[in-house]
Amino acid sequence: MKRLRLLCALIGFTSLPVLADMESSNKDAFVTHLINQMTQEEKIGQLRLIAIDEKMTPERMRQEITAGRIGGTYGSVSRYVNRPMQDAAQQSRLKIPMFFGWDVIHGHRTIFPIGLALASSWDMDAIELSGRTAAKEASADGIDLTFAPMIDIARDPRWGRTSEGFGEDTYLVSRIAKVMVQAYQGKSLSAPDSIMASAKHFALYGAVEGGRDYNSVDMGLARMHQDYLPPYRSAIEGGAGAMMVALNSINGVPAASNAWLMQDLLRKAWGFKGLVISDHNGINDLVQHGVAKNHREAAMLAIRAGVDMSMNDFSYGPELPGLLESGAVSQSNIDNAVREVLGAKYDMGLFEDPYRRIGVASEDPADNNAENRLHRAPAREVARKTLVLLKNENELLPLKKEGVIALIGPLAKSTVDIMGSWSASGVPSQSVTIYDGLKSAMDKGSLIYARGVNLTEDQEVIKYLGASEIENDARPAAEMIDEAVKSAHQADVVIAVVGEPRSMSHEAASRTSLDLPGRQSELITALKATGKPLVLVLMNGRPLSIGKEQEQADAILETWYSGSEGGNAVADVLFGDYNPSGKLPITFPRSVGQIPNYYSHLNTGRPYLPGGPRNYTSQYFDQSHGPLYPFGYGLSYTDFSLTDMALSSTTLNKTDKLVASVMVKNIGQRDGETVVQLYIRDVVGSLSRPVKELKNFKKIMLKAGEEKAVHFSIDENDLKFFNAQLEYAAEPGEFQVQIGLDSQDVKAQSFELL
Ligand code: BGC
Repeated sequence: MKRLRLLCALIGFTSLPVLADMESSNKDAFVTHLINQMTQEEKIGQLRLIAIDEKMTPERMRQEITAGRIGGTYGSVSRYVNRPMQDAAQQSRLKIPMFFGWDVIHGHRTIFPIGLALASSWDMDAIELSGRTAAKEASADGIDLTFAPMIDIARDPRWGRTSEGFGEDTYLVSRIAKVMVQAYQGKSLSAPDSIMASAKHFALYGAVEGGRDYNSVDMGLARMHQDYLPPYRSAIEGGAGAMMVALNSINGVPAASNAWLMQDLLRKAWGFKGLVISDHNGINDLVQHGVAKNHREAAMLAIRAGVDMSMNDFSYGPELPGLLESGAVSQSNIDNAVREVLGAKYDMGLFEDPYRRIGVASEDPADNNAENRLHRAPAREVARKTLVLLKNENELLPLKKEGVIALIGPLAKSTVDIMGSWSASGVPSQSVTIYDGLKSAMDKGSLIYARGVNLTEDQEVIKYLGASEIENDARPAAEMIDEAVKSAHQADVVIAVVGEPRSMSHEAASRTSLDLPGRQSELITALKATGKPLVLVLMNGRPLSIGKEQEQADAILETWYSGSEGGNAVADVLFGDYNPSGKLPITFPRSVGQIPNYYSHLNTGRPYLPGGPRNYTSQYFDQSHGPLYPFGYGLSYTDFSLTDMALSSTTLNKTDKLVASVMVKNIGQRDGETVVQLYIRDVVGSLSRPVKELKNFKKIMLKAGEEKAVHFSIDENDLKFFNAQLEYAAEPGEFQVQIGLDSQDVKAQSFELL
């Protein structure tokens, strides 16, 4: 408060006492007053988000900040690096604080499982815990804002960024979007352990054509509103302070120059009051998109459309002065954008205390990566909830901790890959690998390891992904496979850890194939031939087409990239110290040719009929129909039965509620959790409606033999959709309620909306 008083005195703002209330009118008054004191150069400076790099050395950065030419920075993640920059801001004419942003996507120093994995937990408390822990760690490193959560619906796993998001489903992603925003931002955004969320990528980035990164998006408005936009709206309802603009175009208009997107939809229809930030270079890209002749035009289009802040700015700084002078950009265009930047800083509590998250030098950690700064217990707890058991023939799992286990595969000892991409400030040497996890869990037995194969030997691919990401064993392939087979022969059971290096599941890492890369399939065939029981542990950031391998394996555990404690979490599940409960948040196709293959598709006029005549129905004739593993699927070490599904009524009035119930029983020998999923189908509508849409779910724990009734309340809101006129309304008629433990195997009953 003292600082705020000083600042107010400096800028001649007198109504300080009321500021203590932090009311929005006070915020507006404060920001307006500050804007009135600012020179044009200072205003434009606030719109620039710049990182330290070879050209922008720390010294130059400080000079620019003191001159009022930079508003925020990203990529510097230590208090002692950020403090001199904040000092420089405090030496500027108006002492406007800097903010410090960073991609805290799934953890910060402690790495949590990737987004797709978190979604597999279907556990909002676990997801919340991951976000809150990340916010605590990041804020303790002087970070004020994260470019997260990434909430783009992804239905094409060729897209490398599928790994970062929360899967294919609108309802699930929307729920997680809100939870993540609130986890990052805490109870109050100005709290020292809160960071502002910048939800991304607005909008539709996950729908790039062909799953090719940065490609175009062409989509009808009804589908956009129905399927792809709700997560962004949910993030806003959760209070997201900022939004990051996508790199793709939408029906021909790039997001960064899309006034419909940022003004009509975001600000006017949804009432968003926060900061809009471009993606890295997203404004300059308007030239390549072919909507701007040069950087000047790009800057003009972006600021007019509503991009407040320019990340890695090469356009606003140099071009806005000339654009203003020529009248191509108005003063209010600039002032509106500045207002949002200052407003965000106000909300983050930075005017009150610019060092809120940087603290004092005497309290800086001696070692940023010190072990005692990590939160291993929550990371392990969350990670084990994200693992999905896909197959368990003859109850091969859980394994005994004795005997001989052969651990094979190029990912079993990788400290880098288990962190997943976008692993913020994680340090590979602090990851528990699967080898480490098994080793420390096995008291009596012995563990033999062989690498088996390299992940890829294609030199072009290695060059593209970055040589430091792919460390190859130089031995001939035959020799390595031979060694693996020999190890398998000595063992009671074989665990093969296969999948993708993390660099393949990343930005700019789209694939044309979903097969296991390299010779991993060959390795599995060789291991299978030993006749030993075979467990596949998958480590990957997208669904893979593992049809052949799933037939060869006796058990399969999907572990995604499970983070700093991944190896311990995987061991917990493999040895039965934790009973797996994860469910797929995205469909596993049989082959890349089936894509898009998502559960909530339309029925078509000639739907595939199981067991019916095949000709002239919607299917590929050269492959079995349907997914390899459906959305919502995942096994447990126990079994559950669903019986007695009932609806409280066969009709529903628009103002009423209806209850759908089911009895869930644990019919196995172990305690376990499962996710009861509620889907609804609108049987006849003014538009063709999906065969089912997730509308609710409950994750429940049942002791062996225990039985519980699960109830879902359904009202008109669950039945609404965007019609051809984009009205959001429920239409009277028949609705089918489906309840299951995955999206495919469901019990169904119908009611009529009156
Ligand atoms: C990505 C963003 C990210 C930004 C800053 C861009 O390439 O698209 O998601 O926040 O880089 O790292």
